[in-house]
Amino acid sequence: MKRLLYLALFIIILAGANMTSQTLNLMPVPEKISSGNGKFILTHSFDIAITGKADKRIYPYATRVLRRLSGRTGLFFPQDNITEKSTADTADCIISIEQPGKVLLNEDESYSLQVSKNKILLKAKTDLGAMRGMETLLQLLQNDESTYFIPVVTIQDKPRFPWRGLMIDACRHFMPVEVIKRNLDATAAVKLNVFHWHLSEDQGFRVECKAFPKLHQLGSDGLYYTQAQIKEILVYAEDRGIRVIPEFDIPGHSTSWFVGYPELASASGPYTIERQWGVFDPTFNPTIEETYKFFDAFFKEMCELFPDEYMHIGGDENNGHQWNKNEQIQKFMKENGLKTNHDLQTLFNKRILAILTKYGKKMIGWDEILQPDLPKNVVIQSWRGTEALAKAAQQGYMGILSSGYYIDLNQSTDYHYLNDPVPADSKLSDAEKKFVLGGEATMWAEFVVPENVDSRIWPRTAAIAERFWSPANVRDVDDMYRRLDRVNFQLEELGITNTKNQEMMLRRLTNNGETASLKTLVDVIEPVKIYTRHNYGVKYYSYSPYTRVVDAAVPDAPEARKFRKLVDEFLNGKKELRKDIAAQLNLWKNNHEKLVQTIKLSPILKEIEPLSLNLKLLSETGLETLSLLDKKQKPKEDWLKATDKFLLEAKKSYGQTELMIVSAVEKLVKTAK
Ligand code: ACM
Repeated sequence: MKRLLYLALFIIILAGANMTSQTLNLMPVPEKISSGNGKFILTHSFDIAITGKADKRIYPYATRVLRRLSGRTGLFFPQDNITEKSTADTADCIISIEQPGKVLLNEDESYSLQVSKNKILLKAKTDLGAMRGMETLLQLLQNDESTYFIPVVTIQDKPRFPWRGLMIDACRHFMPVEVIKRNLDATAAVKLNVFHWHLSEDQGFRVECKAFPKLHQLGSDGLYYTQAQIKEILVYAEDRGIRVIPEFDIPGHSTSWFVGYPELASASGPYTIERQWGVFDPTFNPTIEETYKFFDAFFKEMCELFPDEYMHIGGDENNGHQWNKNEQIQKFMKENGLKTNHDLQTLFNKRILAILTKYGKKMIGWDEILQPDLPKNVVIQSWRGTEALAKAAQQGYMGILSSGYYIDLNQSTDYHYLNDPVPADSKLSDAEKKFVLGGEATMWAEFVVPENVDSRIWPRTAAIAERFWSPANVRDVDDMYRRLDRVNFQLEELGITNTKNQEMMLRRLTNNGETASLKTLVDVIEPVKIYTRHNYGVKYYSYSPYTRVVDAAVPDAPEARKFRKLVDEFLNGKKELRKDIAAQLNLWKNNHEKLVQTIKLSPILKEIEPLSLNLKLLSETGLETLSLLDKKQKPKEDWLKATDKFLLEAKKSYGQTELMIVSAVEKLVKTAK
């Protein structure tokens, strides 16, 4: 009997845990969470107090949280700014902090949150932990018909990895201050703590440099951050508990540097700013002392400007062409016993490392910089695969993973989400695993401009943030998608533009015509994936238009994903979903005629007309297949033949976008067969 009782209790607890994940919308999922009964109801008198010893940045942070709660609920809270004086122990929400946090690697970001019916207690060792906890509190907000409330809950939370980053390439397309700021806000909202700022490239040098002003004057088209703007962003990030890692990518990816300083390149100039995408030849000459004199003065200035302990030197994709063709460099290599270009780059890295060390910095670089005799405080950023990360860890080097988090490649959220810096089948020993510090999502900017960059970063980066923060066993893809929708919507309150800018882009595409039919199509197409957009016969320049349908379409199109899931569930036995599938297919079938009218008024849309037709034909195929399934009839031979042929056509991309529901219709057809 007792056993039965225990069993019953166990089942209730399990059900409770399950209910927690089904009813809360937290992303990242906290380490430990237990739900209670009841709610803390927000009223007009809601207030926040902060006690203990915190950095003063916590007061404006808490004030912003208060305003966000007020904005969502329409409640007129009495509090003006939260300050050092806001310590009343009668406050509804009390945030207690033991000590000021340092915005550095490995700082304590843990917190506990206890919500009862009449009090919210947020406790953290540092104000960084308090910030992470406040974001959890904001995500907990719910409502019923008449009230806004926080459910009674107890949370203990801390990150799995200490290095959780987002990289933004501000070079291939310049990203103005407001783009960076709104993305820093969103970064903090999902508990990421590193902003990796890619600041130099073939296509642009983006920082005002006082020692070598021709860098920004000649290398940027006037699109660069002044040092005052850099400092503004550094403060903005620090106020949100986010480290900023600047990257100056050398010795390759460096054309823009040589527009002003051609004498430092490995081939004679003149140079102009690169306008296309790819890997280019211009490379620093690592065999002349002028190069190191230059970098000494350059990094002295940049190491003072950027406060983080780490300086990123890039180091990727040096194709060595200029080195191979330069007689003086070849002679140098022979004289110094350097057999390969990698050996020469190693020599260069060591000289740069000595400079960085002199100015108090540690070095981080892409996985190409990994070499056996680097000091052990160097961090390796693995982008070509997980092997480099494993190899680094086995040799005792710290590393972060970016391979699998290339959000510029338009892959699905679940692909990134299930990619783990330390996967369950990792061959690393427990000691070696500790060298894996975390990871970074990378937003390379060939095909994004300020208008649509948010739509590539968000919401997928929120799922990546969960991978870096939450326990490794949090891997339920369906539940991730459910919560992702919610987070995406909430990021709008921080100025993230993915949803609203798409509406604007569609309006422009239709020449201010009706957008509904275009939206219906755009909802089920995605930009082509991986690097295929580079290889389509469309020659892109930095100044090309990024305003076409492909630029308005988003990766992992939610409507297409929902339809694929609907079909999967139907085929797995949920027969009642037939009507939903049919309704959707009918809607798509009838969309084409309307969209054709719109396309007539807007030549820019012409390229996607075949996709619209294919969506119509696919829908007809789907409907015909449903009828066959209803009647338990096998399709006729020639219908099948024609359908197979058409399905091949429907998989083709047009306007560099592809229809994302073909696989679902194909499954229906296969089942009928
Ligand atoms: C890289 O993607 N070349 C680091």
